[in-house]
Amino acid sequence: MKRVVAAVLLGAALTFAATGQSASAKVYKKAKVEVVNPQKALSACMMCHDITKARTQKFGPPLYGIFNGKQPKASLAGKYPRITAAFLNKFLANPKAVDPSSRMPIRVTDAKKRAQIIAALSKLK
Ligand code: HEC
Repeated sequence: MKRVVAAVLLGAALTFAATGQSASAKVYKKAKVEVVNPQKALSACMMCHDITKARTQKFGPPLYGIFNGKQPKASLAGKYPRITAAFLNKFLANPKAVDPSSRMPIRVTDAKKRAQIIAALSKLK
């Protein structure tokens, strides 16, 4: 139960003013993000995801090495053969829109923040 409460609070903290999907996609492409410290950029993810090489299964699946290197879960693999920046940009903005059965409870609606997170994920290899 403790986990669920934390997730809801985090969801609220990460929900910024919603921008339209096409607008955020543009921002993502334009954004020049430099991520020096993936751990800091992914701090909101680490309660549910292991970001280390150990690839431990926590509440969510491990995130190390997934960028361009892994299929999303089987039910999505037909549409999204790999976890790419484009996939992540959509998924993180609204996991349930991409995957109605997704158990990931948070959304990162701020396009710049999403770009930083995606850049950080690309460094986990
Ligand atoms: C409250 C827990 C929680 C938080 C916080 C969370 N996630 Fe998740 N995430 C999940 C769960 C659970 C899944 C598995 C969803 C499913 O398969 O239904 C998931 C799935 C994912 C996937 C798909 C992985 C795959 O192999 O298919 C990615 C990518 C992801 N999360 C990234 C992130 C990022 C980046 C953050 C931080 C911004 C984050 N998550 C924050 C719980 C969380």
